[in-house]
Parts: sequence; C-alpha cells; structure tokens
Amino acid sequence: MAKLLAEEFTLKKSHQKVVIRSFAPGDQEVIQQFAKRIARETTHTLKYETMPDMTSDQLAFQCEGFLKHPVNLTMGVFFNDQLFGSLRFFQRIENHPWVKHIATFGMAVAKDYWTEGLGSKMLELMIEHAKKEGVLRIEAEVRAVNENGVRLYQRHGFKIEGLREKAAFIDGNYVDEYYIAKILS
Ligand SMILES: CC(C)(COP(=O)(O)OP(=O)(O)OC[C@H]1O[C@@H](n2cnc3c(N)ncnc32)[C@H](O)[C@@H]1OP(=O)(O)O)[C@@H](O)C(=O)NCCC(=O)NCCS
Repeated sequence: MAKLLAEEFTLKKSHQKVVIRSFAPGDQEVIQQFAKRIARETTHTLKYETMPDMTSDQLAFQCEGFLKHPVNLTMGVFFNDQLFGSLRFFQRIENHPWVKHIATFGMAVAKDYWTEGLGSKMLELMIEHAKKEGVLRIEAEVRAVNENGVRLYQRHGFKIEGLREKAAFIDGNYVDEYYIAKILS
C-alpha cells in the first residue's frame, strides 16, 4: 500500500507550516468541503459548483481503497485539520501488462495558498514516489488557458505532446487542453 506519512512543509511566502500526508479514513468530510471550495474557486479542474456530493462509498474509496494499489498515492495539505491542497496519482489502466508503466494525476490548491510552493512540493513528492514504483511515464491533460498550471508542469520536466481541441465546454466557451507527459528514467 502506498502511503505518504506526515511531512511538514513551510509555505514559501507566509512561512506558515502545513502538513502533507496521504488521506486517512477520518478525512471524508474535509475532502468533500475541499471539493466544493475548488469548484467555487477555479474552472481548471473537473469540479463544478452544482456537482452532487460524493457518496460515502466514493469518499471511503478516496481515503482507503484507492491506496491499496502500490502505484496509487493521495496527498493532502493540512493546516488545523482543514484541507488546502490535494493530489491524486494513479496507474492509468490498472495492471495492464502493456501500459502499467503509465500513471496520471490531478491536483489542486486552495486559492489563498497559490504561489506558496505547494504545487511544486506535491509534484516533487509525486515524482519521487513514481520513480520508486517503477513508473516510466506520467501523463495528464491541462487546460491551455491554465498558464500557471502549464508553467508549473513544464518547470517539473513535463513536455507538451499535443492539443486536445474543444476538450471542455465551460461557461459558454469551448476550451482546449494540452496533453502533457514526463518520461522518468
Ligand atoms: C496550478 C496550481 C496547482 C499551482 O499551485 P501552487 O501551489 O500555486 O504552485 P507553486 O506555488 O508551486 O507554483 C506556482 C507558479 O506559478 C506562478 N504564478 C504566478 N502568478 C500566479 C497566480 N496568480 N496563481 C498561481 N500561480 C502563479 C508562481 O509564481 C509559481 O511559479 P514560480 O515558482 O516560478 O514563481 C494552483 O494554481 C491551482 O490549484 N490552480 C487551480 C486548479 C488547477 O489548475 N489544477 C491543475 C489542473 S491540471
């Protein structure tokens, strides 16, 4: 089972200390609240404001079941038992002999905490874990308009491989996404 034990991280600008760790069974409520916050604050993920609440089975899976596969990893950024950032990393198609070296991820940080180095720190922890687990390719999609996200991923060695035109229809506009990937050696 892949699990990140509690690690303290000092935010770059405010110098506030937060804890980064994998989700645990008691985190269901904060995960739900965080998903709603992300839906309010950004359209760069798949969370949207009128989205139904996650079921208790879905939340339990996020906290426990998901971590049973050794490649899969969750990360939450905690301060005073509240959640301010998260990352989920997982094998894209579980245990398929031809593509088990490929994993993907999704991440978000609460707006008040942007530019404090949390995105970078979570990517570093993810890449370290991926190398240990023998993942050779990490791939994801990022909205082309998400300049901060694109720049962050490029800084961590991701390359843009192509364009997914009209990949989402958000607030009345079609938006494109980049296919990004990083090869680990
Ligand atoms: C993309 C995201 C995860 C980055 O997280 P973060 O904690 O702000 O990341 P970092 O602080 O490590 O780095 C952000 C970089 O963007 C730059 N940046 C500049 N203006 C910024 C702004 N208004 N907001 C965010 N980043 C900004 C930062 O300066 C930093 O670059 P630097 O290290 O070269 O200075 C975060 O902005 C976010 O959650 N956005 C909404 C959801 C999202 O886009 N998720 C990814 C979907 S693919």
